[in-house]
Amino acid sequence: MDRYLVFGHPVRHSKSPFIHTLFARQTQQELEYGLAEPAVDVFAQALRTFFDQGGKGCNVTVPFKEQAFTLVDRLSPRAKRAGAVNTIKLTDDGVLLGDNTDGAGLVADLKSHGVTLADSRILLLGAGGAARGALAPLLAELPSELVIANRTHAKAQQLAAEFCDLGHVTAQTYEQLAGSFDLVINSTSASLQGELPPLAPALIHTDIAIYDMMYGASDTAFISWAKQHGARQTMDGLGMLVEQAAEAFTVWRGIRPGTKQVLRELKRNLGVI
Ligand code: ATR
Repeated sequence: MDRYLVFGHPVRHSKSPFIHTLFARQTQQELEYGLAEPAVDVFAQALRTFFDQGGKGCNVTVPFKEQAFTLVDRLSPRAKRAGAVNTIKLTDDGVLLGDNTDGAGLVADLKSHGVTLADSRILLLGAGGAARGALAPLLAELPSELVIANRTHAKAQQLAAEFCDLGHVTAQTYEQLAGSFDLVINSTSASLQGELPPLAPALIHTDIAIYDMMYGASDTAFISWAKQHGARQTMDGLGMLVEQAAEAFTVWRGIRPGTKQVLRELKRNLGVI
């Protein structure tokens, strides 16, 4: 049977095996999907061994995405732009192809929630790996402006400069942010420490859409905060997780699974519904 897995550390709580098993059942594909948690310094070796032993493809998650970028034979254009690889496929001619489906997953999830990106004014919080992966797919949707704000302003400036060939993208400090945004995307890891990005409450209004790439059984700190300040449309990163997986599955198997039912099952599994 064709074998796939996700590499990460820690990875025990990954939802990927659950999601891909449901995709396989739904599309009647014969495959198995497991977990691998190599020590951080032996990831390269573990990856090689997996493919030497007949593995067909894998996902890569924290903290291995940047390392995977350097280990594959060939990169997709979107992985090259993201500077990170979350999906690897062994092609029929034996080439390890590195791809990145995170940004496409975000855009697909935003669209499935009915968020309009074309001509919109988007605020992206954070300038780490998650922000970098999101930029090209977001700019491809032709927003009128995309502003990056980050605690360490120099990193936001660097990202804006790197992606300015793809659209109108600028960097501002949190203090400089002004005017009305249509969509705020939180790509920071602040919620992991129960913290909030230092965003002025005045930027939140009833018609704004709020997206947090993090998720949990209950609202993230950022979503709770945005709701308190009047945001009516809030979304967490669970949909992005399922959509990036669907994109990876499509890369591997050439067949696109449906995501709605799988997302519902995942929510039930997490105790959200
Ligand atoms: P990831 O790959 O998930 O993006 P990362 O590369 O470590 O992770 O980036 C984390 C992002 O969250 C950074 O933009 C970080 O800001 P700095 O560049 O200033 O470190 C941001 N971040 C983390 N904790 C934060 C907090 N409490 N408030 C605001 N931003 C925070």
